[in-house]
Amino acid sequence: MSELDVFSSIVRSRRSVRAFENREIPEDVLGEIFELAQTAPSNCNTQPWFAYVASGDACVRLRDALYTSVLGGEFDMDFPYLGKYEGVYKERQYDAAAQLYSAMGIAREEKDKRNAAFLRNFEFFGAPHVVFLFMREGFEVREAADVGMYAQNLMLSMQAHGVASCPQTALSFHAGKVREHLDVPENQKLLFGISFGYEDVNDPANDARVGRAPLAQTVKFVR
Ligand SMILES: Cc1cc2nc3c(=O)[nH]c(=O)nc-3n(C[C@H](O)[C@H](O)[C@H](O)COP(=O)(O)O)c2cc1C
Repeated sequence: MSELDVFSSIVRSRRSVRAFENREIPEDVLGEIFELAQTAPSNCNTQPWFAYVASGDACVRLRDALYTSVLGGEFDMDFPYLGKYEGVYKERQYDAAAQLYSAMGIAREEKDKRNAAFLRNFEFFGAPHVVFLFMREGFEVREAADVGMYAQNLMLSMQAHGVASCPQTALSFHAGKVREHLDVPENQKLLFGISFGYEDVNDPANDARVGRAPLAQTVKFVR
């Protein structure tokens, strides 16, 4: 395989996985994954990301705490979330949701089942590991872009190691709880989390495939 084939296969096979096996990733593999992710570029090489990885008991305790918080209707986010989109963004959001729910066999009007599927976010979709991405208080969109690049590097590094992932804004809904459980300083602000582990290939949620807009909608080549 050429380098391009290898790269293309890793990038194209990565997708959001929403059901995991209850099997931990060996520590040495975890270390390699995060070592590789650390090569992400950033403005002036500031590397403004801070990753807190919860596994084992820490992961279980946090999962229980977040689940309780969401059922209690508490929301405590460090950064505002638009949530509702308009125009083409709304269409793409609807398409992605339609793909997911149809893979899971959930119809549009089955509100209870949709809600149950949403709540799986807070159980990390059964993943044995979750990483939360923080940046220091006072950092803004430029630093958040750097953290985004780190996150993609991280998910591709996972993919290359046979590890599946799901990035989740939902995991930023209770930032204070995450700080409390992982002993994160108050001046670190939470952007989002990523559940990760080995994919449960038998769960229909993982049959969902979402497409992408045609290139002309998002790229303009100028001469
Ligand atoms: C920053 C970010 C936040 C996301 N938040 C959630 C989330 O809270 N729950 C979820 O199920 N998927 C979430 N997703 C996954 C997206 O729905 C998914 O990336 C998109 O539909 C494209 O699908 P793919 O990742 O399978 O290629 C998020 C993705 C990103 C990049």
